[in-house]
Amino acid sequence: MEQFDFRSMSFYQIWIRSFADGNGDGIGDLYGVYDKLEYIASLGVDGIWFSPIYPSPNADYGYDISDYRNIHPDYGTLEQFRKVLDRAHGLGLKVILDLVINHTSDMHPWFLESRKGRDNPYSDYYIWRDPKWKGETRLPPNNWFSQFEGLAWEYCPERGQYYLHVFAKKQPDLNMDNPRVREEVKGVMRFWLDMGVDGFREDVITYISKHPQLPDGIPFLPGINGLPFYKDGPNLMAYLREFRAVAREYGAVQIGEAPMTPVKTALTYLTGEDRVLDMMIQFDTMMADCIVTEYVHLPFSLIRLKRAFSKWQKALAGKAWNALYLENHDHPRVISRYGSERFWRESGTMLAAAYLFQQGTPFIYQGQEIGMTNIRLGSIEEYKDVSSINAYHRFFTHRPKEKRLRRIHQSSRDSARTPMQWSGSGFAGFSTVQPWFAVNPNYPAVNVETEEKDPQSILNFYRKCLRLRKSSAALLKGDYREYCPLRRRLYMYERRYRSECVLVVCSFSAREQAWRLPKGFAKGSGVLLLCNYPEEGVPGRLRPYEALVLRFRASDAPAGCPG
Ligand code: NOJ
Ligand code: CA
Repeated sequence: MEQFDFRSMSFYQIWIRSFADGNGDGIGDLYGVYDKLEYIASLGVDGIWFSPIYPSPNADYGYDISDYRNIHPDYGTLEQFRKVLDRAHGLGLKVILDLVINHTSDMHPWFLESRKGRDNPYSDYYIWRDPKWKGETRLPPNNWFSQFEGLAWEYCPERGQYYLHVFAKKQPDLNMDNPRVREEVKGVMRFWLDMGVDGFREDVITYISKHPQLPDGIPFLPGINGLPFYKDGPNLMAYLREFRAVAREYGAVQIGEAPMTPVKTALTYLTGEDRVLDMMIQFDTMMADCIVTEYVHLPFSLIRLKRAFSKWQKALAGKAWNALYLENHDHPRVISRYGSERFWRESGTMLAAAYLFQQGTPFIYQGQEIGMTNIRLGSIEEYKDVSSINAYHRFFTHRPKEKRLRRIHQSSRDSARTPMQWSGSGFAGFSTVQPWFAVNPNYPAVNVETEEKDPQSILNFYRKCLRLRKSSAALLKGDYREYCPLRRRLYMYERRYRSECVLVVCSFSAREQAWRLPKGFAKGSGVLLLCNYPEEGVPGRLRPYEALVLRFRASDAPAGCPG
């Protein structure tokens, strides 16, 4: 079946537990989603990506699945999901589900069987290895750390073996080298595609093929020392081709999450008619204020951010297609990281312009469109996320508690998981009862209801941006070119298609910035399409976090190929 035109679209991501509580138990659910579908459509997006909505013991809030073909009872039923799907389609929204097949929950029936012994039908569904012995001491098969908690191996006395878990202990990795496991995956894909789902966001899909020998990694690199041996592995392409064949039958779109995959490797998955993925979630743009993970913090560098933006824009140009994002459920809120809570409205809107107009399909995470910011909870006990709790207890333990907590405030992905702020009334309008997780105390000011009424709000700016993107061939499919890459507070890029050229100018500064049109643009010939301040400013000066979007005729713009 032919694929739909995902390139002209944009998507809204729902992390359901914190989106909207429709049945009054303090937990977001599909009843709440149903009621908010018109709101989502009103943003001007074309589809929804649901983070996992399946049954899960919630060791990793949905990313530990115990049944691939059902809905978590907290979130509703299959029947309710069908209602959401139909209504979403009725509103012109595509629906994409998370496909989490690198691992399951340790409570998945496959694992419960597999752990029983070496001779049952599921025994080879997971990655089991014998211990290493040093004298009398039992050691794990290699020295890998898991990304979430401690070592990557857990001993199972019933089998006398260890199982691999690249993430939490309760997330055993599936053995994708087993053809039966791949058939299971295809069955799961068909189950949802037959129901009418339009595609998948594929969780850490580049981890599913492990190096056959599982060799030791660098001993002193916590969290990711095994990465070179489980990322972009030897059989990945072959397995992705198998899954692609299923997706093709339905015209489904596949978006692969690919932490640390370099551009060159990415192109092998993303290029051409026989590509195995349509888009990739790269991590470079999430590392402008950290190394590898937010827990290893650095001061924000616009230069690093611009390099990451331009690297992906240039490398994929004419060959593949970018997925654009600045937030999702795995990262702290972007205003708190790359913008300014003091210049909340200005930086929230500027950041929208900085990424929505690049070449690619934008993803907007729930709450990003109203400028939600990081939460700062009073103690680690109030946090819910396994990786935040582990980071607090395991790293920098010599530092005082307050400092460690401050690092969690800055880095925790729980900041993206506080309940969505719908209104200024109790519990931010998310629920009628105490929600499952803390509401950000800024909800009386930062919420949908208030921002709906304000033409200058972040919410309405997102709407304007998405409308503008849809109306401009240059923004939809034009070439990308960056100007002044060395300016430390200014990001300027152009999109150009035939006679239309759009210039986006973004200040990343709390102070005024001088700027001028790059050489070759005819002065006075640009038409201002969008600005994030209500009144015009002074020519040549950008106000704090100001963003301008200007349209030129290509004949009034510099010649030369985009570089
Ligand atoms: C990436 C997901 O986005 C994240 O939330 C999850 O914890 C890991 N993969 C493991 O599934
Ligand atoms: Ca509920």
